[in-house]
Amino acid sequence: MKITVLAGGYSPERDVSLLSGALIANSLCRSGHRVALADVFFPYRGVLTDEAFTSDGNFMHTIPPVPPDLKGLRAEVPGNALIGEGVLALCRLSDVVFLALHGGMGEDGRIQAVLSSMGIPYTGSSFSACLTAMDKSLSKLIFRAHGIPTAAFSLLKKGEKPKEGPIPLPCVVKPCSCGSSVGVSIVDTEAELETALDAAWKYEDKLLVEDKIEGREFSVGILGRRALPAIEIRPKNGFYDYERKYQSGMTEEICPAPLPQDEAERLGALALKVHRVLGLGSYSRIDFIREEKTGKFICLEANTLPGMTPMSLLPQEAAAAGIGYDELCLAVAEMAFKDKA
Ligand SMILES: Nc1ncnc2c1ncn2[C@@H]1O[C@H](COP(=O)(O)OP(=O)(O)O)[C@@H](O)[C@H]1O
Ligand SMILES: [Mg+2]
Repeated sequence: MKITVLAGGYSPERDVSLLSGALIANSLCRSGHRVALADVFFPYRGVLTDEAFTSDGNFMHTIPPVPPDLKGLRAEVPGNALIGEGVLALCRLSDVVFLALHGGMGEDGRIQAVLSSMGIPYTGSSFSACLTAMDKSLSKLIFRAHGIPTAAFSLLKKGEKPKEGPIPLPCVVKPCSCGSSVGVSIVDTEAELETALDAAWKYEDKLLVEDKIEGREFSVGILGRRALPAIEIRPKNGFYDYERKYQSGMTEEICPAPLPQDEAERLGALALKVHRVLGLGSYSRIDFIREEKTGKFICLEANTLPGMTPMSLLPQEAAAAGIGYDELCLAVAEMAFKDKA
């Protein structure tokens, strides 16, 4: 197959995505496919013929410790287009588009809507499912409607007075539609609240203030119609923020998660339910905290395009189920045809 891997984009998670993209591209080359890798935000400078696709597999990217300077990037690209010139023409030349994007227009359904309109098969979930999962306030309403436990929350809009009274502490402040813990803060004291709100407003005009859930953290990947073994996430200190997600050695990740079998099954079934009620496609990853005082798994959110480096959570879970990285990338690429046919 000729596969275009789309990565980067105008999102705080662009570096993570560029790394996922490079490693996915290399993997697909190892599986015998011809691949073109494009940063969706920048104009595509390569040839727009079949020569664009290579089987060399020498792609690479390194993630700096802090999120990228998006304003600076914006200044580099003329015309403020979300999709760089030539990128869609490249997609049109390919049999399938592998979305290695995270956050922003890659994960909120916009790029999926464009590809759908062009009849180009792409990996992951439909544009409507992406839109629902990306907006944490919307997905939490759906969780509630289906009896899926989720933290109590209120929504803050920039410039509007909160409808409810004082914010109950401890809480978690997070932008409504970001990812990778960008702009997320845990607030234990009144003094920390202002700083947390300022940090989150930098990213979005709509914020969630959630009750803080005390307990162990888990994530469950879905591949096809099955839940993969859960992974437990134990940051060495603090919480699972941007740095602890992407700098090696800062978080202990244990897969399969040490849970009694009945709890592991309950968690897998709940993750599948989340995947189903959000209408997600061939794969996803659902985040949970097991509330210490009740033993309930509380759903934080669903990720429609989870990290896909071999060290990312979902590939680790696939490996624990006997599915190697190359097999995983291939399965995701192949399911793009079945889902959209
Ligand atoms: N309600 C909460 N209680 C405790 N910790 C939370 C809560 N919400 C988020 N967190 C912490 O913040 C991290 C990021 O939050 P999450 O909702 O998963 O957003 P993101 O899309 O940025 O991954 C989680 O992995 C968890 O460590
Ligand atoms: Mg998360």
